[in-house]
Amino acid sequence: MNEIAAFGPDFVWGVATSAYQIEGAVAEDGRSPSIWDTFSQVPGAIDGGDTGDIACDHYHRWPEDVALMRELGVTAYRFSIAWPRVVPTGDGAVNPAGLAFYDRLVDALLEAGIRPFATLYHWDLPQVLQDKGGWPERRTAEAFADYAAVVAGALGDRVTDWATLNEPLCSAWIGHLEGKMAPGLTDLTAAVRASYHLHLGHGLAAQAIRANAAATPSVGIVNNLSPCEAASDRPEDVAAAVRADGHTNRWWLDPIHGRGYPEDMVRLYGVDLPVRGNDLATIAAPLDWLGLNYYFRMVVADDPAGPLPHARPVEVADTRRTAMGWEVHPAGLEDLLLRLTREYGARRILVTENGSAYHDTADGTGVEDLDRTNYLEEHLAACASAVRRGAPLAGYFAWSLLDNFEWAYGYDKRFGLVHVDYGSQRRTVKSSGRRYAELIRAHLEAAA
Ligand code: FCB
Repeated sequence: MNEIAAFGPDFVWGVATSAYQIEGAVAEDGRSPSIWDTFSQVPGAIDGGDTGDIACDHYHRWPEDVALMRELGVTAYRFSIAWPRVVPTGDGAVNPAGLAFYDRLVDALLEAGIRPFATLYHWDLPQVLQDKGGWPERRTAEAFADYAAVVAGALGDRVTDWATLNEPLCSAWIGHLEGKMAPGLTDLTAAVRASYHLHLGHGLAAQAIRANAAATPSVGIVNNLSPCEAASDRPEDVAAAVRADGHTNRWWLDPIHGRGYPEDMVRLYGVDLPVRGNDLATIAAPLDWLGLNYYFRMVVADDPAGPLPHARPVEVADTRRTAMGWEVHPAGLEDLLLRLTREYGARRILVTENGSAYHDTADGTGVEDLDRTNYLEEHLAACASAVRRGAPLAGYFAWSLLDNFEWAYGYDKRFGLVHVDYGSQRRTVKSSGRRYAELIRAHLEAAA
């Protein structure tokens, strides 16, 4: 792949995971339940009735997983920290045993020459805080900042790369409006208030990290974005695409860039935002980098009777799709990178997640996952093209290091570069993982 020449010598080559999806050990060392422990007990909420109780047993097998990363030759690892391990009461005492787990992990990563990128919130709110109202309530944003201060104080001498939130869109819209993720609500007012307090939590946490980390931190936020295109030239469809873009992209980008909430969407939702004092300035905390998770684009048609934002996704004919049913569309990644650069003035972008689920067949000798390998190469090529066109892309994290608990889809959807046999917990590097390792090595050699 010649494209590799586009990436500079400091380009970050990573893999990503999140706590609830891989750790297991949900009741160990003082961890309290999160909203995902609760949600995964709801009959019918998760395919196959799966839960994160054991997941990849990473809580016990992390040394092996660090060794796997070393074998792949990645230069960075994006993981998340479980709030219910560190502050089991949500807003009370710190649990040293919970912190110690991440402390050991960070040391092992650094020793392996792998740069730790810590995400403070990847959807696992302590259930005790949900019981007090969760993200629709302001106190959750304040508790999040307190927890951020604790983690930054404990790890901020060694961790310099911090993400506050992962994909607040999913927490707010899928968790509070569509009801398909924890906490499983279908309440527009709760969803809009949750989005606002997630943003406030992000801004307050950014301050807390900067105030408590011993080494100068680099702070960002991770959004999942999708280009939204109209299914036809009909004015109704064009307007639907603008709404979908507002719901999916602008609502999540404008406030953190100091532009406030998009007025067309505020009108459409018709919910008062609980703004106080200087909140909007807090939300627009300076960003050292912008994280982009990219999976698919959306092509939409007007759907006045359908759910918000009244834009129905239309299946584009003759496209390749992953096992999630998501269209394979690498050009969408390039489009988004250029949009963040041109419209939002991004100065440093990281692709914090990108990857694909396919039905892998493990035959005992390995996993030949050609589709995933192609997906990886095509998306890296899109990144390279964006770099050549001026996007300040500084790194790429493949989702995911391991097959893992894919939220409402359970264990059936495998995104890993490394196959996990959930019976034996045996890990096997797939051919996509080997290909990624080759690409990283080739790049590092070319850049040396
Ligand atoms: C993203 C999530 C991540 C994973 C991938 C497939 O939305 O951030 O945890 O589930 O999708």
